Amino acid sequence: MLRSRKPAANKVKLERSPAKPPSRDVLTQYSAGVVGMGLMGTSISACLLAAGHSLHCVETDAARRRSARARLLKLLTHAVAEGAMRENPSTLIGRVAISADIADLKSAEIVVESTVEDIALKRQVINEIEKAVSAQALIGSNTSAIPVTDLQSGAKHPERILGLHWAEPAHITRFMEIICGQQTTMANARRAMRLARGWGKEPSLLRKDIRGFIANRIMYAMLREAFYLVEAGFASIADVDRSLRNDMGYWITFAGPFRFMDLTGIPAYAEVMKDLLPDLNCATGVPALMRKVADSGACGVSNAKGFYPYTPQQARQWEKLFIEFNYKIRELADRFPEDIGDIPRSSRKN
Ligand SMILES: NC(=O)c1ccc[n+]([C@@H]2O[C@H](COP(=O)([O-])OP(=O)(O)OC[C@H]3O[C@@H](n4cnc5c(N)ncnc54)[C@H](O)[C@@H]3O)[C@@H](O)[C@H]2O)c1
Repeated sequence: MLRSRKPAANKVKLERSPAKPPSRDVLTQYSAGVVGMGLMGTSISACLLAAGHSLHCVETDAARRRSARARLLKLLTHAVAEGAMRENPSTLIGRVAISADIADLKSAEIVVESTVEDIALKRQVINEIEKAVSAQALIGSNTSAIPVTDLQSGAKHPERILGLHWAEPAHITRFMEIICGQQTTMANARRAMRLARGWGKEPSLLRKDIRGFIANRIMYAMLREAFYLVEAGFASIADVDRSLRNDMGYWITFAGPFRFMDLTGIPAYAEVMKDLLPDLNCATGVPALMRKVADSGACGVSNAKGFYPYTPQQARQWEKLFIEFNYKIRELADRFPEDIGDIPRSSRKN
């Protein structure tokens, strides 16, 4: 069952210490909600439980609702086995309630919407969340690319609606983008930033809304070029993957693109840009190969059908390796700082 709220005490503590993450003790008294217990909703829920929140999850699909607790327990147990968490998974699971009714979110002070990527559905879900929660509760949408301003339209209290963009597996990765729509107040964005730090994230703040936010805009520019190289016959899928894995894959967790240019010499990049940028693909349609593979029913390793052929065993092995790698890369990345005092204070912590 959800714990009863102690809103006044929690908010004072959260808002008085701008740069410091809230302690676990504070988060323990802070009720959270998640709507949509699919792939991401489950790992987001595991993250929120591990951070100390009491949690209410809402899922309309009965089978997913029935399996949710077992799926959460599996993620949390694995986190303990990897040394990423010390709490007892069974105790944490005792702090989650799961139902089909959004009205059950009434005590939540922050709700993460993680249903499917459909603007009409997300708007309807946000509308129902608003009916359930208090006017001060934060509502974060885990949309991949829908502008937050579009999700705020028609809302009763749009100033507390923001984008909370997680990366899968959400209980392991440090990634989080917090996106302000046109009507989000900076005070609410800061509340979300502080909570995110309490969840073990290193959040980035987007003060202005833009479709795709930061990471997806850059990733999709990369995907478009990757499809172009394959479709135009320059390289195979495996060759494209191998190059990216062994080049960008080596440095991108250590340094973002700007730090990397600083590390490797800026003038060469300016020179290359002159001739290379006009040559890059800027098609606006979905690539034919993407269409063909998606239309064939391929979901990737989850149904053992993707850009590569998989036996069911191989698909399961890739899923396992991906999680294992996520723990290892986080462990490694945590040993290397983002900031050695050279990021201007104004853009460091928000
Ligand atoms: N998969 C990723 O790697 C990833 C990364 C970042 C963001 N996202 C975004 O996260 C969201 C969820 O993605 P996912 O991959 O978990 O999808 P998913 O299909 O696995 O899960 C969506 C879940 O929402 C449930 N749902 C649908 N309507 C509902 C409603 N009205 N009330 C309650 N539950 C409802 C579905 O039954 C399903 O269980 C999407 O907006 C997606 O774009 C996904």
